[in-house]
Amino acid sequence: MSFQLSGNAPEIYENIMVPLWFGRWAEALLTFVSLKAGETVLDVACGTGVTTRIAKRDVGSDGRVIGLDINGGMLAKARELAADMDITWIESDVIETGLSEQSVNAVISQHGYHYFPDQPAALAEFNRVLVPSGRIAMSIWDGHSAYTKAICSAVEKFISPEIARKQRSQRETPSAERLIASFSEAGFRNVAVVRQKLLIKVPLAAKFVPLHLGSMPIASSFHKLPDEKKEELIADVADALRGNIVGDQLVYLDVVNVVTGIK
Ligand SMILES: C[S@@+](CC[C@H](N)C(=O)[O-])C[C@H]1O[C@@H](n2cnc3c(N)ncnc32)[C@H](O)[C@@H]1O
Repeated sequence: MSFQLSGNAPEIYENIMVPLWFGRWAEALLTFVSLKAGETVLDVACGTGVTTRIAKRDVGSDGRVIGLDINGGMLAKARELAADMDITWIESDVIETGLSEQSVNAVISQHGYHYFPDQPAALAEFNRVLVPSGRIAMSIWDGHSAYTKAICSAVEKFISPEIARKQRSQRETPSAERLIASFSEAGFRNVAVVRQKLLIKVPLAAKFVPLHLGSMPIASSFHKLPDEKKEELIADVADALRGNIVGDQLVYLDVVNVVTGIK
């Protein structure tokens, strides 16, 4: 499973998906690490930097914030959005931060962990860079929502089972029990998972589905479809979610697991 965006996908991701999805979880994640002025924070898989910018606000001008992501396109957007903020950006895989041992007070990450190809190596790296008693907080989807199930089913029918498998994998996340075991095995203590629920509100399928799929790694497969197939795919999602229509929006519940621990 991977999450790689190209072309204008990082732009759509920031303009559409951050306000509707990712930005809504971001403030909540930061409450789990209670950042103090002057601290150093590493935001791994920072994407376009929604949580990185909040971390910088919290640690202030004496604090240091580092946003790390493997995708240069996402980082370019992050840099642009934080042009007037003193944030360090690193383009790298999470297992090689290049940071010194015991140099970071808190490691945070939002919706990145389940993409890491070598999760034990990633956790070992976070443990290495944290100071003693440093904090970690990561939010990870708790499986599929009604919306993502409907999308995957439509992608299977109108694009291909193989592409649907990739799309489904975006939400094939570890259970709370597995997360606690993995973080504990990596040397973190007091590991806990808090389930957070949010009522998500997005535009109706005709408007939202093309934008959402345009911000996903499968964007090119969707864009290549003939117009009538795109319309059939969108109609399939709309039909599956007809019970979720409230006025001019789709409204559904989504859930994340926030895993926290201390070095
Ligand atoms: C769904 S986005 C989340 C981005 C951001 N944290 C947010 O909340 O908007 C997942 C991010 O994980 C990054 N990513 C995936 N695998 C990675 C890896 N091995 N190392 C670093 N970043 C990775 C992707 O490039 C992408 O920006």
